[in-house]
Amino acid sequence: MIIAVDGPAASGKGTIARALARHYGLPHLDTGLLYRAVAMTVQRLELDATKEADAVAACDFDDSLLADPGLRSDAVGQLASVVSAHPLVRASLFQRQKRFAHQPGGAVLDGRDIGTVIAPEADAKLFVKATPQIRARRRHSELHAHGATISYDKVLADIRARDARDSGRAAAPLVQAPDSALLDTSFLTIDESVRRAIALVEARVAA
Ligand code: DC
Repeated sequence: MIIAVDGPAASGKGTIARALARHYGLPHLDTGLLYRAVAMTVQRLELDATKEADAVAACDFDDSLLADPGLRSDAVGQLASVVSAHPLVRASLFQRQKRFAHQPGGAVLDGRDIGTVIAPEADAKLFVKATPQIRARRRHSELHAHGATISYDKVLADIRARDARDSGRAAAPLVQAPDSALLDTSFLTIDESVRRAIALVEARVAA
C-alpha cells in the first residue's frame, strides 16, 4: 500500500505521515528532507541556490546529512523551497522517491507533489491543510520550544513566502490532487488529525 501525504509547510503532514507509517507498519520518507539536504549542501559549498546548475551539483549530497538536526531550521526550509523550484533538481531526486514508494509492502511519503508527480498511482492520497495563521502559531511555538527567538510575525511572513513559492512555481507546484482526500487540521488536535487521517485512508482503500 502506498500512502501519499501532501500539504503546505507546518500543516501537520509530517506528524500525520509518521503516525500513518506507525499504524500500518510501513516505512516513511519525509521528502522535504531531500530538498533540505540539497539546500544545506548549497550553503556549505557556498553555491547560489537560485542557479539551477549550482543546485543540481548539490543533489549529490552525502546521505549522512539526512540525520543533521540543522536541516529542520527555518532558514534551510526557505532555501529548500528555492532549490526545489528548479526542474532539474526535482528530476534528480525523482527516482529515489519513486523507488522508496514502490518497495515491497509499500510506504508512506509526505511532501508537496507525492500524489501528483511521485506516486500518482498511490492507493490513498491525503492533502493536509490549515490556515496560515494557525500554521504560523504552531511553528512559532515549536521554534520557541527549541530556544529560537523569532517573532510570530516573521514566522507568518516566512510561511506566506514559502506558500507562494511552492504553489507558484512551474515545476510540480503544490496543488491538491483531484483524487485526494482533504484534511483540514486547523481546529483539530494531533490525535484528532491522526484518527481522521486513518479513517480517510481506510475509506480510500475500501473503495
Ligand atoms: O516539507 P518541508 O517544509 O520540509 O519542505 C521544504 C521545502 O522543500 C518546501 O518548501 C518545498 C520543497 N519540497 C518540494 O518541493 N517537494 C516535496 N515533495 C517536498 C518538499
